[in-house]
Amino acid sequence: MSNKGRVKVGIIGSQFQADIHAESFRIMPDEAEVVAVASPTPGNAEKLAKKYGIPRVFTDYKKMLAEDDIEMVTITAPNYLHAQMTIDIANAGKQVVCEKPMCMTLEEADLMIETCRRKGVLLMFAEELFFTPKYVRAKQMADEGAFGKVYLVKQSEKHFGPHAPWFWDVELSGGGVLMDMGCHGIAFCYWFLDRPEIKNVYCQMSTHVHSDKTKGEDNSICILEFANGAVGLVEDSWARRGGMDDCIEVYGEGGVTYGNLHMGNALPTYSEYGYGYAVEKAPTTQCWTYPVFEEIWNYGFPQELHHFARCVRGKEEPKVTGEDGRIVQEVLYAAYKSAGTGRKIELPFRPEGIKKPIDLWLNEKS
Ligand SMILES: NC(=O)c1ccc[n+]([C@@H]2O[C@H](COP(=O)([O-])OP(=O)(O)OC[C@H]3O[C@@H](n4cnc5c(N)ncnc54)[C@H](O)[C@@H]3O)[C@@H](O)[C@H]2O)c1
Repeated sequence: MSNKGRVKVGIIGSQFQADIHAESFRIMPDEAEVVAVASPTPGNAEKLAKKYGIPRVFTDYKKMLAEDDIEMVTITAPNYLHAQMTIDIANAGKQVVCEKPMCMTLEEADLMIETCRRKGVLLMFAEELFFTPKYVRAKQMADEGAFGKVYLVKQSEKHFGPHAPWFWDVELSGGGVLMDMGCHGIAFCYWFLDRPEIKNVYCQMSTHVHSDKTKGEDNSICILEFANGAVGLVEDSWARRGGMDDCIEVYGEGGVTYGNLHMGNALPTYSEYGYGYAVEKAPTTQCWTYPVFEEIWNYGFPQELHHFARCVRGKEEPKVTGEDGRIVQEVLYAAYKSAGTGRKIELPFRPEGIKKPIDLWLNEKS
């Protein structure tokens, strides 16, 4: 394996997030190059490979892991596969980039961290909000003291539901919107406040519009109390119409800032006839829409993957790791339990033998 030149990357998966990873490496090509993609459905890996000029394709990701020159592998497969894939990648001696949420259970999170440590490879947790330019700017201002002592951080992400069927199947996803998108907000509040200890979690969730397709919640509100006295508020929805909405609010005794990820990067537009594409998950391009520009850049994906490639070369230290993913996982457990019982759940919270976080809600409900 070479320790010089661009990091050679393999991608597992070929659809939504795989495309974003491939596009991100294309946008920032100086540190890494995608040399292989693996995806089980015949033809799918080829399609992504053709779009981005990726030379090698596999239907079995384990065959891709046998390629000597591949140094870093990114996982863009459904959540229930993340743990086994991470372990296989680490056992092949390659560096791991794992998409959010990290896995299904805390036992898996521990095993992923432990295996990567034992094999001497990095476990980089792909939480792009740590790299989202607008949100990074808010954190820089907070770190410079702009808001004084920060007492409340809010993050919310909302749209009308995910694009692929497996997200709706809680056996494969582990939960509904909290698992899918609340994991971003939990990580965000924790990072923004400089990773203080989390004291307890309170959560309310319900299924308002999608009970025909899922046992999962399609709306959730989650409150985290930190040991430094600050509060995190994480609001997520798969029931909100009109395309993607992603916002933060930061309140301190000395100031406040608001960030709307899409509105500051959009052109308020009216079109009688429609056009190609507006923004992630927008159902239409007719009438009033808010088409974004540089969408992937504004989310922070290229910057995130560029950073991870630099970490592989020892040029930077990972800003987001498996340990962060594990803490998010514990908060997810506590949040589902809280929603089920109607109580605040104190951390540490580590029930044994849970198969997936949402069971802590579903079991209490039934
Ligand atoms: N960071 C983000 O904002 C973000 C956004 C979207 C998705 N994601 C995450 O990325 C992951 C993938 O989501 P997606 O939206 O790309 O889903 P998707 O359904 O669009 O794609 C999933 C891919 O995984 C592949 N796959 C399934 N089983 C496989 C196997 N056994 N071996 C190899 N590949 C397999 C599928 O063939 C498909 O190519 C999820 O964990 C999701 O939470 C993260």
